[in-house]
Amino acid sequence: MANISSMKIRKIIDSRGNPTVEVDVFSGSGAVGRAAAPGGASKGAFEVSDYPKEGIDYGIRRFREIAMRKMLMCDLLDQKGVDELLHEIDGTDNFSGIGGNIAIATSLAVAKAAAKSENMELYRRLAGKGKVYLPYPVGNIIGGGRHAINGTVMQEFLSVAMGNDYTASSFANVAVHKMVGEALRRRFPSYPIGLGDEKAWVAAIDDSDAVDMLHDAIGKVGQKAGMKMGLAIDLAASEFYDNGTYNYRDRKLDCGQQIDFISDLAGKFSIKILEDPLEENDFEGFAELTKRIGRDTMIVGDDLFVTNKERLRKGIKMKAANAILIKPNQIGTLTDMIDTVRLAKKSGYEMVISHRSGETEDATIAQLAVGLGIRYIKTGTIGGERTAKHNELIRIQEAEGKK
Ligand code: PGA
Ligand code: ZN
Repeated sequence: MANISSMKIRKIIDSRGNPTVEVDVFSGSGAVGRAAAPGGASKGAFEVSDYPKEGIDYGIRRFREIAMRKMLMCDLLDQKGVDELLHEIDGTDNFSGIGGNIAIATSLAVAKAAAKSENMELYRRLAGKGKVYLPYPVGNIIGGGRHAINGTVMQEFLSVAMGNDYTASSFANVAVHKMVGEALRRRFPSYPIGLGDEKAWVAAIDDSDAVDMLHDAIGKVGQKAGMKMGLAIDLAASEFYDNGTYNYRDRKLDCGQQIDFISDLAGKFSIKILEDPLEENDFEGFAELTKRIGRDTMIVGDDLFVTNKERLRKGIKMKAANAILIKPNQIGTLTDMIDTVRLAKKSGYEMVISHRSGETEDATIAQLAVGLGIRYIKTGTIGGERTAKHNELIRIQEAEGKK
């Protein structure tokens, strides 16, 4: 037994310049666990609430006044008990009482302090004694949607590096990022080109240009590196869907047309991962698309499932999608997240653990990926708040004695 002896919560700055929360958990034995919550821009409608409606400062104040006292003397090693207490203190079914971001930062800080108190890394404590595997990095290369002004309509065009060495895989994604940057510079010699929230390139190109350029760069880098690489797209389709229509710059598609269009695109470019190709309520559409292209393509539900076990259960029943995005702060506690991960594993759904567009230097998702055996991690390609996770994985790989 190791008790929580004290806690701190503070407001810190995320990579977009927005406020977010960081929690420190101290144990009597001197172990400290620290975790920070990220922030989304294209949030799913069914995520837990990140802060109470009165805002982050109110949430922090309330947490200090009400929650912290109740959590003192909790057993650090009883993650389930801690997470149940967070739900109890919150008193709502969507964490709008204390804020899902405050809950997840606390939950993860407790998990990290527990690992420290046993002189272990979090991933090892979660994985137990067995062999662990490093995930494949999925890196954002070209972007738009809610993450950039005047970028592409689809939110993210990403590179998936499937080498057997994590360092080599993440550098392969970096090479694709550099190559696409050079191609954009050649194409627009006198235009400024920038980076979006996740440090993906933003330029005056449309979705089909982005797929072409990325496909070309991935082919070249993959061949040079002798590595299996693939292409991924996160459409974040709810963001450009309105009342039965997907609104692209040059055309409008109804649901059936969207499914046809996406199926063709997936076939033409051998797309490895398609995330949120349809809006977040369309389980039937996801099922139809999965039937058509799910054998060759991972159809990932992000806004569709929001890391929520009940929504995933519905998806499994309907055969909607064949993979799930895992974002800890969509659901609010580590225990809830692990429940969803277990259900996905049991049901043969592939998993991608993911950063958010607003991030901090916190690298806990790297630990979770390895500790829970999640095969893919989507956490950007460059930018300190993204490389924090890659570099953590590089260190884990070294500790595990892989090359
Ligand atoms: P976010 O979304 O901006 O809400 O973090 C990222 C994503 O859709 O994967
Ligand atoms: Zn997404």
